Amino acid sequence: MLHFNLERADLFNKLAGSATFYLVILKILPNPFRALIIGSSGTIGSAFMELLKNNHACSRVVGIHRHSEYALDYQHPASIENCADSLSAEGPFQLIINTIGVLHSRDWMPEKKLEDLNADQLMAQLKINTIGPALTIRHFSKLLDPKNSIMVTLSAKVGSIEDNRLGGWYSYRAS
Ligand SMILES: NC(=O)c1ccc[n+]([C@@H]2O[C@H](COP(=O)([O-])OP(=O)(O)OC[C@H]3O[C@@H](n4cnc5c(N)ncnc54)[C@H](OP(=O)(O)O)[C@@H]3O)[C@@H](O)[C@H]2O)c1
Repeated sequence: MLHFNLERADLFNKLAGSATFYLVILKILPNPFRALIIGSSGTIGSAFMELLKNNHACSRVVGIHRHSEYALDYQHPASIENCADSLSAEGPFQLIINTIGVLHSRDWMPEKKLEDLNADQLMAQLKINTIGPALTIRHFSKLLDPKNSIMVTLSAKVGSIEDNRLGGWYSYRAS
């Protein structure tokens, strides 16, 4: 299982195909390979869709999000298993990348001070950034090619325990 931390400054390089991340993946994958992007409507997810559609070794790329043909919503954990089950005929996949995650919503922004910390935001962030991805690993790993495949879940560098010199953003960084 690969787990990559992203930092906004090097995001472009990571997605441009010149960075270690993408090159490492391509070196490990068979040719041809099939890919699944979870969260394909987001900034990073749609960039991966574009990269993979233009990659000759990628014979098929499927993108899913809350409003796609095969949909999943981390506010409704049962939808994760349902979505994985409905995708079984599309597999097996040699590459699955989960880019789902939230920093803010219509109802809340990252906390700037301790007094901003609240239960609703903590629970919402944990549901989308922690519980959803964990259940996705559980239910979507059965779609992986058992011979040769990679599953990646993105997070954020600000969530690092070792590299954690900033203040604020408590619920995002904890999740
Ligand atoms: N962009 C950056 O500079 C950056 C930097 C560091 C870390 N990251 C991390 O990288 C990941 C992706 O970032 P991004 O910039 O691509 O984010 P984004 O553009 O906001 O996209 C977020 C994705 O998450 C999905 N999503 C949101 N709430 C959901 C829910 N309840 N259930 C299922 N899907 C849901 C969205 O789908 P809908 O279309 O359905 O809303 C969208 O596909 C996040 O974990 C983020 O924290 C990003």
